[in-house]
Amino acid sequence: MDGSGDWADAHRRAQDFVRQLTLAEKVNLTTGVGWQGERCVGQTGAIPRLGMRSLCMQDSPVGVRFGDFASVFPAGGTIAASWDRELIYRRANDMGSEHRDKGVDVQLGPVVGPIGRSPAGGRNWEGFSPDPYLSGVAVAESVKGIQDAGVMACTKHFIGNEQEHFRQVGEANGYGYNITNTLSSNIDDRTMHELYLWPFADAVRAGTASIMCAYTNTNNSQSCQNSYLLNHLLKGELGFQGFVMSDWQAQHSGVAGALAGLEMAMPGDTLFNTGVAYYGTNLTIAVLNETVPEWRIDDMATRIMAGWFYVGRDQHERPINFDSWTTDTYGNANFYAKEGYGLINEHVDVRGNHGADIREMAAKSTVLLKNVRNTLPLPAKEKFTGVFGEDAGPNGWGPNGCPDRGCDNGTLGMAWGSGSANFPYLVTPLTAIENEVSKVGGIVQGVIDNWATDQITSLASQASLALVFVNSDSGEGYINVDGNEGDRQNLTLWQNGETLVKNVSALCNNTVVVIHSTGPVLLDSFYDNDNITAIVWAGVPGQESGNSIADILYGRVNPGGKLPFTLGRTRRDYGSDLLYKPNNGKDAPQDNFEDGVYIDYRGFDKRNVTPIYEFGYGLSYTTFEYSNIRIVNRNAKPYAPNTGNTAAAPVLGQSGQVGDYVWDNSSNRVYNYIYPWLNTTDLAASSGDPYYGANVSLPANAQDGSPQPVQAAGGAPGGNPLLYETLYTVYATIKNTGSVGGDEVAQLYVCLGGPDDPLRVLRGFDRLSIEPGQSTTVGFDLTYRDLANWDVVKQDWTISSYAKTVYVGASSRNLPLTVPVPQQKAARSEL
Ligand code: NOJ
Repeated sequence: MDGSGDWADAHRRAQDFVRQLTLAEKVNLTTGVGWQGERCVGQTGAIPRLGMRSLCMQDSPVGVRFGDFASVFPAGGTIAASWDRELIYRRANDMGSEHRDKGVDVQLGPVVGPIGRSPAGGRNWEGFSPDPYLSGVAVAESVKGIQDAGVMACTKHFIGNEQEHFRQVGEANGYGYNITNTLSSNIDDRTMHELYLWPFADAVRAGTASIMCAYTNTNNSQSCQNSYLLNHLLKGELGFQGFVMSDWQAQHSGVAGALAGLEMAMPGDTLFNTGVAYYGTNLTIAVLNETVPEWRIDDMATRIMAGWFYVGRDQHERPINFDSWTTDTYGNANFYAKEGYGLINEHVDVRGNHGADIREMAAKSTVLLKNVRNTLPLPAKEKFTGVFGEDAGPNGWGPNGCPDRGCDNGTLGMAWGSGSANFPYLVTPLTAIENEVSKVGGIVQGVIDNWATDQITSLASQASLALVFVNSDSGEGYINVDGNEGDRQNLTLWQNGETLVKNVSALCNNTVVVIHSTGPVLLDSFYDNDNITAIVWAGVPGQESGNSIADILYGRVNPGGKLPFTLGRTRRDYGSDLLYKPNNGKDAPQDNFEDGVYIDYRGFDKRNVTPIYEFGYGLSYTTFEYSNIRIVNRNAKPYAPNTGNTAAAPVLGQSGQVGDYVWDNSSNRVYNYIYPWLNTTDLAASSGDPYYGANVSLPANAQDGSPQPVQAAGGAPGGNPLLYETLYTVYATIKNTGSVGGDEVAQLYVCLGGPDDPLRVLRGFDRLSIEPGQSTTVGFDLTYRDLANWDVVKQDWTISSYAKTVYVGASSRNLPLTVPVPQQKAARSEL
């Protein structure tokens, strides 16, 4: 860590702090106290001597997981559909403030891995979009939003964490697969840079204080002990200044992990509740016996403290005032050990006015897919409104009736897994529509049993308007819902949705379909049915679901969202798919990312497959016209590779003698808790490691702290700063040609021109609010990175000599404006 970018002050303060620490105190910073050892989903050891409390890591990317009196925000993949930087920032800032006020140090989000390679991926909804540019903008705004609230962000999961199946051995054994190693995501260098690493670069550039390494292997090396991923790509090339934290039980070694770049072990024990750790005592031992050099333990501690100072935790830290494992007010702070009885839940209401924000966010993220005969917005008074679908109503067990939202009962306000949070309330679509209709004295009735065919038929034949709510759910691999082990088994609608749509639309010629889903679903059987007059995608909207959709349906909000993924005709059309069966005997299932950079719309374009609704598509209650494109050369500094050497890794303190670290029996030892202490001065006996002292060889230079050559593409957080120089600005004019004000997301795509390049890639967007009859001129900055490819030989970004074209328009397939990119001088000399 060198304090580059805007990390100098945090770096200096962190070093000053670490200089005061004993080895045990440094180890405490790096090691969790064990699963359910304290009140947050993960906590480190404390440094009481210096008044430093245990750090609290808490899910999730949509709110404070397990928190009461906290909010549930729209999911990542939903807010991405707003394409609205300010809104994405505000969502994160609101969430960050809720975490801060609950006493959380690290919010375990945002997510850009999965990016969403395959549409059925269980956790895609936690991330933003399969497009790396949109994902990159969204993650950067999210990191800034969370950290401006004074909480550290944890961008996750690094990297190639694209499916739930086989991510953990125990989990896969649990659903019947006898494997002994986790899935390997096999990714080539160019794809790594141009797709999967891209949004992580944006997160690092935005200052993410931490990164969570994934459960999976990458190219057959565990992600949390993969020196190439952590030391080379993340810290060397991307200039990451913060700390790497393991996913929960994703750490598979001590020394190998420490040397490969893992700073923090979570939740600290080898497996949940074993009471033993790869770090903790064993890290103390590894430093004392010099397998982990002093400079490295100092670097680990410095990075963690630098993240802490970088976001101003010294100003913003509050006592932890909630408990993840019980809603009881009094109980055991050490839940697993059943010790530490006292006040554990203070039930602090941290929601502020976020309900109103959430309503606005979900409405602005809603995508209007079809709207014929001006069906939407609905008239103030409709004769007879029928509401159909389990997805319009409540979960009979209450909004939090299924642990971690692990069921699909009622409306899909939130999907399942550690990426969820507890609802304070969930406004259902049926309630909101009933309120709407009753206000004006209309008629509204709902059938929310999707198998009640007679009742559905009866209501559909009376209704002048049918609002049909359908959904498709997914989540994290430790929960199986209806045979879906996190990942979806298929892309069809759940809850008998397709039959419901068919039955209602057969009887009502004004049927509006609203879809709540964690990703793409199949619409082919009904989207062009004449009786279906409108289709709306409302994603995974959070607690204000009903109010947000009513704002759209009744026209208080003019829809301006655009699809952050492609809606294809069949599952096969997506090309990329998941691995559902092990393909390597008992060893790591091999997931070869042979689709390269061609996921989602890039794959559809390459294979010339026409989707139903393309990436970037979305309608409005008004219309827009594009004109007047021009490109202006900004005479940027030419790109030059980063050169030179790093400084030597500093040693900030000496660890002292073995005897200094033997447990002194001075205080109570919590059962199964992970400590940094030794039991005896005999290191082998203290380690509990049956292989202690075995002749294990480390890779050459693994312990070397001497100056190292820097990487050409490195130099600062996010990579070489010259990558972010603006080469051109592209201007275009967008006019609102309709009769109501509305928002348009103007999009810029680039054809990089090479034979191996996608037809077009997104490289700019702006959400614009335009009054009827008015025009706005939008400017998109194109950076060096935006026009470059990763050169696997040079190991650097380079702009190829192929002719490049810019496109501007309303979606990835509706691009009325084009302009050539002037040839680059550097590129010409290569010809
Ligand atoms: C496992 C999940 O993969 C990760 O996203 C989460 O933060 C941890 N569990 C902690 O709950």
